[in-house]
Amino acid sequence: MIELIIKAIIYILPAYVANSSAVVFGGGPPIDRGKTVRGKRVLGDGKTFRGIILGVFCGTIVGVFLGLIKGNMGLWLLGFLLSLGALTGDLVASFLKRRVGVERGAPVPVLDQIDFVIGAILFASLFKVPSREITLIILVLTPFLHFMTNLLAYQLGIKDNPW
Ligand code: CTP
Ligand code: MG
Repeated sequence: MIELIIKAIIYILPAYVANSSAVVFGGGPPIDRGKTVRGKRVLGDGKTFRGIILGVFCGTIVGVFLGLIKGNMGLWLLGFLLSLGALTGDLVASFLKRRVGVERGAPVPVLDQIDFVIGAILFASLFKVPSREITLIILVLTPFLHFMTNLLAYQLGIKDNPW
């Protein structure tokens, strides 16, 4: 079981890195360029070109490293798809949140924690469909890991609140 959990975390690692790199390196001009539909932003200021580009870049780098370690250079493509999928999932979630009137940055529990892994797994499935066990572990474990890292960031004074 522990082995399967470690396998799942290593598999999804490029998506985790892509998602957190977007937060760390994001900012600048928003992808929707401030456009609104029926008075509501298309995506909001939280979805930027820099976040997407640097997120995909950092996540893909992790895929390259995993490929080097495992001696399977094809893994860079898996890392790329996981990263692009992660940020696309996050983007789609923001689009849906704006449509139902949720302001940029307002927390939506569960959706905020798993939107990116759903996108990542869907995109990665173009390369190779992960096993049912791996998929389930990722979906269950991610909200917990998310919470733990946020709590850690809060304790370290990087974040203003623990969620
Ligand atoms: N970010 C970015 N580009 C992305 C994703 C994230 O620049 N594609 C940065 C933004 O600075 C964003 C922060 O990471 O504010 C946190 O990401 P997230 O929680 O996804 O955005 P929110 O600001 O909460 O906006 P939303 O309500 O749309 O989720
Ligand atoms: Mg958010």
